[in-house]
Amino acid sequence: MKRTLIGFIAIAFVAALFGVAAVNADAAEYIGAKKCKACHIKQYKSWAKTNMADSFENLKAGVKVAEKKAAGLEDKDYTHDEKCLKCHTTGYGKPGGFTSIEETPKLAGVQCESCHGPGSVYKVTMKKIQKEKKPYKTDEQKAQGLIIPSEDEKGCMVCHGSDSPFTEKVDAKYKWVFKDRLEKTHEHFPLKYKQ
Ligand code: HEC
Ligand code: HEC
Ligand code: HEC
Ligand code: HEC
Repeated sequence: MKRTLIGFIAIAFVAALFGVAAVNADAAEYIGAKKCKACHIKQYKSWAKTNMADSFENLKAGVKVAEKKAAGLEDKDYTHDEKCLKCHTTGYGKPGGFTSIEETPKLAGVQCESCHGPGSVYKVTMKKIQKEKKPYKTDEQKAQGLIIPSEDEKGCMVCHGSDSPFTEKVDAKYKWVFKDRLEKTHEHFPLKYKQ
């Protein structure tokens, strides 16, 4: 009896260990650009100058009235319209993501995690890399949920595709060219520990 019990506890223990391992990337939640800023100040400053950073402003009444009209939209307050929020905020409807401007103001606009994936898991291992000045491979970070944007255009098309009111059908200036857009995301800087 005692032996069975010990066996059972051992199995439960191993299962719990694997359980934790399996959760990892899938359990990743959105944490907001301020958290990334602490370690990636250069990318943050460069991104902050783009229109993505204050993209939420465009949902307010009286802002970009002519552009909205050209796209068939009215001049009204869209800041609580979920149709717009899914593209003008970070992680809308996903774990840890934007819910409303009152509850999650730090996730307004198109932030780092819109392109790089939710960071609660990979930031932990990045912290280790930084502390221990430890060489790492990008694949290890990807297994933690990090997205390398140039590897898959689909990640961009969720927002830049035909669901957007602002496509080249409305104005040629909205034309999507993946290569050009990748360059305009933020300035790129050399990495120290990447192998
Ligand atoms: C969550 C939705 C979303 C995703 C995902 C997304 N974008 Fe965007 N992006 C936007 C919105 C909204 C704007 C417009 C910002 C504004 O003017 O309000 C924009 C604007 C841009 C701009 C113009 C910035 C500027 O300063 O004018 C670039 C470049 C861009 N996106 C590149 C990308 C690339 C490359 C990807 C994929 C790796 C991507 N975006 C993924 C929503 C998204
Ligand atoms: C499927 C994603 C998506 C949805 C839904 C969406 N947008 Fe956008 N919006 C974008 C993208 C992408 C851009 C940037 C287009 C570009 O630069 O090529 C943009 C740009 C804008 C702009 C700036 C246009 C300019 O010329 O500066 C305004 C204003 C805007 N959106 C308002 C809204 C409003 C209001 C709603 C809801 C009715 C909405 N958007 C819904 C993706 C979306
Ligand atoms: C619109 C998409 C987009 C957004 C938003 C974005 N990035 Fe990036 N990021 C990229 C692309 C593209 C690369 C180049 C790597 C690749 O895809 O091959 C990159 C690369 C990086 C790198 C590697 C080093 C470098 O400078 O290239 C870091 C670090 C990084 N991003 C951090 C951030 C942080 C922090 C934020 C938010 C403040 C952010 N990124 C926002 C698209 C984005
Ligand atoms: C505690 C510090 C820390 C935090 C917080 C952090 N990172 Fe990093 N990140 C690092 C370090 C260190 C590296 C490795 C840099 C190097 O090799 O020079 C890295 C690498 C990266 C890379 C490049 C990966 C590759 O292999 O190409 C990206 C992209 C990135 N981080 C994005 C983010 C984003 C987005 C956030 C916020 C959600 C974030 N990081 C939060 C420390 C951090």
